Amino acid sequence: MAVIGKDILHAAELLRANHLVAIPTETVYGLAANALDSKAVLKIYEAKGRPQFNPLIVHVKSAHEMKKYADVPPLVERLAAKFSPGPLTYVVRKKKIIPDIVTAGGESVALRVPAHPMARQLLEELDFPLAAPSANPSGTISPVSAAHVADGLGDKLEYILDGGVSTLGLESTVVAIEDDTILILRLGATTPEMLAPFAGVKIQTHTATGTGSPGRLKSHYAPKTRLVAGDIRTLLEVHRAERVAVLILWDLPRAPNIVAAEVLSAKRDLTEAAHNLFSAMRRLDSAGADIILAERMPEEGFGFAINDRLERASAT
Ligand code: TXA
Ligand code: MG
Repeated sequence: MAVIGKDILHAAELLRANHLVAIPTETVYGLAANALDSKAVLKIYEAKGRPQFNPLIVHVKSAHEMKKYADVPPLVERLAAKFSPGPLTYVVRKKKIIPDIVTAGGESVALRVPAHPMARQLLEELDFPLAAPSANPSGTISPVSAAHVADGLGDKLEYILDGGVSTLGLESTVVAIEDDTILILRLGATTPEMLAPFAGVKIQTHTATGTGSPGRLKSHYAPKTRLVAGDIRTLLEVHRAERVAVLILWDLPRAPNIVAAEVLSAKRDLTEAAHNLFSAMRRLDSAGADIILAERMPEEGFGFAINDRLERASAT
């Protein structure tokens, strides 16, 4: 089993020796390896059971460092000046130094500067960037604590660097630049509203097959218990004969067949809801219900990204 600890120098040592280390970030925990070493990166795919057509995010220590690994267009520089370090990932044209396995053979690499202080200190210790997808078995709920990582991947890695519960709790927003517009490939913790002052924003809708845009697999972030998302009162009516677990924003409905419930934010705050989402989904998943009924969030701020996760958790 992986050791859980707070020793940044030990984590650095293991990464230099091509081992896997789970690292805390402000979004979710990442399963990290030396991004410049194909053999180390291969271990990530194996540990997660991740399909090799789904490329990885490379975590770098500063926005300035991105230029070592990719061609950085002016619009990305402007975005990085505002949002990096932070939960925004840029898909840009890779330089040769990035191995093909990181990008699943593609010409573009996804780069992010994480904001979590321990992740930043770790990157400062290293003279290579870190490839790191979320530290969960492929397709399951993303981890926002060291204990979540140990639950899913504990026997597959050496060390889990414990940085507490991720403050944001939702993955980064992944963007590409197309004709000077910002194309959102994955909704996340940087909202469309936050990006809008910089350029036109388009949201790419995902495909069921994952072809065309890698990683846009429809079924993802999924609990073991079946989950459906929609209007909560309608869902309760439809599923009144089943033992249900309920995931709602703030206004808890009453029904005799509700066996477990999670309120994401009693004060109706979507940022707090995002922070609580994945932990709440895990608790409901172990409540022994027949089905999880999830309320769709209002379409503003973090609501878009939460609805995206609920939709994909409900896809089969
Ligand atoms: O917040 C996050 O982004 C976390 C933390 C650990 O940084 N990472 C994360 O990684 O969520 P992962 O692998 O679970 O999701 C990365 C997403 C996937 O949808 C993947 O397909 C997409 O980014 N992606 C990675 N490289 C890409 C590329 N070169 N082109 C297009 N999409 C890419
Ligand atoms: Mg993931």
